[in-house]
Amino acid sequence: MTETLTIRRPDDWHLHLRDGAVLRAVLPETARHFARAIVMPNLVPPVVTGAEAAAYRDRILAALPTGMTFEPLMTLYLTEDTDPDDVAAAHASGLVTAVKLYPAGATTNSASGVRDFDKVRGVLDRMAEIGLPLCVHGEVTDPDIDIFDREAVFIDRVLDPVRRATPGLRVVMEHVTTREARDYVLAQDGGDLAATITVQHLMLDRNAMLVGGLRPHYYCLPILKRGTHRAALVEAAISGDPRFFLGTDSAPHPTRKKEAECCAAGCFTAPVALSCLAHVFEEAGALARLEAFTSLNGPAFYGLPANGDTITLTRGAAAAPLGQIETDAETGPITVFDPGIPLHWRVTP
Ligand code: DOR
Ligand code: ZN
Repeated sequence: MTETLTIRRPDDWHLHLRDGAVLRAVLPETARHFARAIVMPNLVPPVVTGAEAAAYRDRILAALPTGMTFEPLMTLYLTEDTDPDDVAAAHASGLVTAVKLYPAGATTNSASGVRDFDKVRGVLDRMAEIGLPLCVHGEVTDPDIDIFDREAVFIDRVLDPVRRATPGLRVVMEHVTTREARDYVLAQDGGDLAATITVQHLMLDRNAMLVGGLRPHYYCLPILKRGTHRAALVEAAISGDPRFFLGTDSAPHPTRKKEAECCAAGCFTAPVALSCLAHVFEEAGALARLEAFTSLNGPAFYGLPANGDTITLTRGAAAAPLGQIETDAETGPITVFDPGIPLHWRVTP
């Protein structure tokens, strides 16, 4: 049995770092293992303009503990009022790596997102022209569509029409959760479409969240689906296909907002993401392709070099769940994702 595995240092192609005390608490958890991350802009208020992204980038770098290195890859939150010139300037200066599309109302802090896609046509056309990728939260918000169907319906109703109307637009379908999404990616060629997959969607299905009691720390959006979808995602992740790569969607919320009457959506996976992924890939007999998923496919899609240094994972005795990390008194602790099975792999110094 393999006991150690050395891979190029991973990147996280979808991450929520928040701001203030939460940023200070969670940033080291990512920077410890990951060199870069695509940082989500769904703050309150959202990061819409280049100037706002520059200020947020400064706050992230200021929150980085001395001695740690980390490169935040900034994104802009697409609104119906986004100015194509501002987006193009932020891209040209190297400040932003992608633009994020939230359908209005789809998830946490998405109220300023897009309702009418005709209103963002000019921005999308400009992005296609300059080669700036669009990261998409792919769920419809139509109240008549069942929550478990919202991703599949989004592909037909929104994503495919938008891509046809904007030839050359580079798109990342984020946190894909269904066989339909995987198959849509597989059916495209030309290199303009990729997808990220989270840790929780590779490890858990909806039974894990709902059977024997409701587990709020497994509640995220898009919601966990049935086991057949999870199996399709694992196949995609372990395949080595360059169109699939890691985006943890690590989304910290205070424990008191998770263990609440109305639970906030998001799993805080950053501290255990690589331990979990090594488990998934080992179980599938595909440890040799972990590096492609965590460290090679993402940079290739974004046209960036893979990281030059490496990390080593070691297999050993099962680690106890990490429990919670502390923030400040006002926010309280944040619970770390626990997949509910023994984790034998850990990143070793
Ligand atoms: O579970 C989620 N949490 N899904 C999202 O799309 C947003 C995220 C958050 O910001 O908490
Ligand atoms: Zn997210």
